[in-house]
Amino acid sequence: MSQLTESLNALHQKSDFSCGNEMLDTYIHKQASQDVKRKLAVCFVINEKDTNQIKGYYTLSNNSIPLSHIPNNLQGKLPRSNESIPTILMGRLAVDNRFKGQGIGKLILVDALKRSWEIAKTIGSYALVVDPINQDAENFYLKYGFIKLPDSGKMFISMKTIDQLFK
Ligand SMILES: CC(C)(COP(=O)(O)OP(=O)(O)OC[C@H]1O[C@@H](n2cnc3c(N)ncnc32)[C@H](O)[C@@H]1OP(=O)(O)O)[C@@H](O)C(=O)NCCC(=O)NCCS
Repeated sequence: MSQLTESLNALHQKSDFSCGNEMLDTYIHKQASQDVKRKLAVCFVINEKDTNQIKGYYTLSNNSIPLSHIPNNLQGKLPRSNESIPTILMGRLAVDNRFKGQGIGKLILVDALKRSWEIAKTIGSYALVVDPINQDAENFYLKYGFIKLPDSGKMFISMKTIDQLFK
C-alpha cells in the first residue's frame, strides 16, 4: 500500500508547525509524541524531505459512537443489540499556514481515508469519525462527503462510502 504520509518520528520539526489554531499547534508541539508512545493515537505527517518541516498531520485512534448518535435513516440497518458502533476517529488534521491552499489538506485527508479503509479490512469499523473544531473545519469535511452526527457536533463518513472510493 503506498501512502504519502509517514509516522511521526524524532526527526520531524514539530516545534515550528503553525496552522493558526492554538490547540492543534500545541498538540503537535507537545502532545503527539506522548500519545504515540502511550499507544493512544497514531500520528502521520507529510513533510518537506530535505528539512523535515511538517506540512500537515493527522491522528487516528480506535473509537466508538453510541448507536443513538447515528442518523435515523441509517440506524434501521444496524442491529439494535449493539449499543455502540465501532469506528475510527481522526482526532486531528491540520496543515501548516505556509502550505495551505496547495492541496495538502485534501491529500492527507485522502491518505487518512485510505489508511482507515485498510484498517477496516482487519478490524470492523463502521465509519471514520471527525470532530471539527469550528465551522471552517466543518465546511472542509462537508466538501468531502462527511455527514453530521446529530447531537454530538461530530461528523462521519461511512466505510461503505470509503469502499466505493478505493475499490
Ligand atoms: C482545513 C485545512 C485542513 C485545509 O487545508 P488546505 O491544505 O489549505 O486545503 P486544500 O488546499 O487541500 O484544499 C482542498 C480543497 O478544499 C477547499 N477548502 C479548503 N479549506 C476549506 C474550508 N475550510 N472549507 C471548505 N472548503 C475548503 C479548497 O478550496 C480546495 O477546494 P478545490 O479542490 O475545489 O479547489 C487547513 O486550512 C487547516 O489546517 N485549518 C486549520 C485546522 C483545521 O481546521 N483542521 C480541520 C479539522 S480539525
